[in-house]
Amino acid sequence: MRVIILGGDGYLGWPTAMHFAARGHDVVVVDNYLRRLIARQTSSEALMPNPNLQKRAELFEAISGHKIRVEIADCTDYRFMQRLFEEFRPEAVVHYAEQPSAPYSMIGYDEAHQTLNNNLNATFNVIWAVLEHAPDCHIIKLGTMGEYGAPNVDIPEGWIEIEHRGRKGTFLFPRQAGSLYHTTKVLDTDLLWFYVRTFGLRVTDLMQGPVYGLSTPESDLDERLLPNFHYDDIFGTLVNRFLVQAVAGVPLTVYGKGGQVRGYLNLNDTLQCVDLAMNNPVDRGELRVLNQFTETFSVNELADRMVRVGRQLGLDVQAKSIPNPRKEPEEHYYNPDHSGLLELGLEPHYMTDEVLAEMLEQVRKYKDLIDVDMIMPRVVWNEASKEESGVV
Ligand SMILES: NC(=O)c1ccc[n+]([C@@H]2O[C@H](COP(=O)([O-])OP(=O)(O)OC[C@H]3O[C@@H](n4cnc5c(N)ncnc54)[C@H](O)[C@@H]3O)[C@@H](O)[C@H]2O)c1
Repeated sequence: MRVIILGGDGYLGWPTAMHFAARGHDVVVVDNYLRRLIARQTSSEALMPNPNLQKRAELFEAISGHKIRVEIADCTDYRFMQRLFEEFRPEAVVHYAEQPSAPYSMIGYDEAHQTLNNNLNATFNVIWAVLEHAPDCHIIKLGTMGEYGAPNVDIPEGWIEIEHRGRKGTFLFPRQAGSLYHTTKVLDTDLLWFYVRTFGLRVTDLMQGPVYGLSTPESDLDERLLPNFHYDDIFGTLVNRFLVQAVAGVPLTVYGKGGQVRGYLNLNDTLQCVDLAMNNPVDRGELRVLNQFTETFSVNELADRMVRVGRQLGLDVQAKSIPNPRKEPEEHYYNPDHSGLLELGLEPHYMTDEVLAEMLEQVRKYKDLIDVDMIMPRVVWNEASKEESGVV
């Protein structure tokens, strides 16, 4: 298939590009290096140095024989998007190209405005490029489980049937995100739904949980092909932060009570999910929402496992609670459905002790590059924690 991957320099975009190219698809990646720019501006650089996209594509082709076409361009530039979609006529587009950091989106007006503008305009341009130049193209959009928040009821996959005053209707499940970044994802979903029901686009919106891992069959070919690994407070995920803290011998920082539960998945499962979505396209006029994660953990459960596995490897690992910089429930009910992707054929890779140990060993190789000053939260949007944490 002819596939465009937007955000192809990113943590998920780059392994996805290699995965599809290795399976014989015709792949174009687009990226404007926004993440690299923000990482430099906020001193949040990735642990391992990642060659630029052009160099990685050349290296991947030299090793595997599979070509990936690279376009360094901004998805919010509609003239560029028009030219690309008109010329390439994609059958599928995977849209990862957004500013994905919740803390960054909460720094202040400029960062919030940039996140809102970038994310909504990128999605809007994908919609219009498809409408005008490739109306049959299947849009595979990365949303987030964070769109739903943590409601006190079960979370279905996107849709809920409501009975109200004796009448029934089906609606998008009510969403209540906990950051401006997550709110842009809610707005993306609404935009997509409007254009699906009005102009018959075909869209799969993947509500993804936090992804962990670096190894994929293609990224293991050469360490210069590894995806980016951030562990700082801006781009770093909880799993990456704990891995680095365990290796560096500094306590794992549990935000608040640590009862926050999320649905996680292995990077290899993201690749499977996007592949399954692409190979099982929806009909025109359908918005399919799939919850994309394989297992749930609380922060405390993850910390306990990291302590246990880290100690088995001879690391000095402890956990400690710090004031929660985020405004979020720290103990809550959480029961989201996630059968849709399993029904399509997803075979989960779970976070076993072996997988954790492998990730710790991978990070241990780069121990000398760890900068522990990048880890503690610098952005606080929980008023109650501000004074306690000393961040204003
Ligand atoms: N990684 C996760 O755990 C996770 C979880 C849920 C959802 N997601 C979503 O998946 C997508 C990819 O996430 P990621 O972790 O790979 O993030 P990432 O920041 O590593 O990758 C996103 C890429 O998009 C690029 N980009 C952003 N705006 C652009 C624009 N206007 N034009 C061109 N390129 C642009 C960035 O430069 C970056 O390389 C994001 O939309 C994110 O919200 C990620």
